[in-house]
Amino acid sequence: MRIHVADHPLISHKLTALRDERTDSPTFRRLADELVTLLAYEATRDVRVTPIQIRTPVGPTLGVKLAAPRPLVVPILRAGLGMLEGMTRLMPTAEVGFLGMIRDETTLQASTYATRLPDDLSGRQCYVLDPMLATGGTLIAACRFLIERGATEITAICLLAAPEGVTALREAFETSTVPITVVTGAMDERLDEHGYIVPGLGDAGDRLYGVV
Ligand code: URA
Repeated sequence: MRIHVADHPLISHKLTALRDERTDSPTFRRLADELVTLLAYEATRDVRVTPIQIRTPVGPTLGVKLAAPRPLVVPILRAGLGMLEGMTRLMPTAEVGFLGMIRDETTLQASTYATRLPDDLSGRQCYVLDPMLATGGTLIAACRFLIERGATEITAICLLAAPEGVTALREAFETSTVPITVVTGAMDERLDEHGYIVPGLGDAGDRLYGVV
């Protein structure tokens, strides 16, 4: 598994505003959206392209376009939805599948409550959107789900990550042949006793959409 911590002053600046407890939901949503676009630029570094011949007004040239099968973007509901638009803005021709996962706040175990994904993901590069890589439970379950359907490459985009989650993910896929990459805006210190990232930003879903 590869982990890439984006080291860019603009990302750190926006993350600081995102973390701030005084940031309201509309601003939080805008910042999350902007951060995803910046992280997605890094996360799609290895997206597959195919050569195409075009003509400019001056003459012929060789360019590229996204290869088939199209990349699949998978936001993990609910908080991952806040990252979807920032991702599809960068890659508008990608397909989007949905995975609803919920974490039991006592056991910290993740379970799937909704799916809308192609049955066959053979040959697909998948981009999973999950703002918080905390215990790793949700992301591990999501990656297993995608690998079972044939995904050949998975890149997770997370606004923040905790070392415990990265270790869990690494151990879970130690022997997997499917390459997994995590691109994150920052690696925080640790998890607290409730599985929240410290210093983190609190509950990403609540901060995006309110407590429901
Ligand atoms: N999920 C969140 O929303 N925040 C955390 O800190 C951990 C998991």
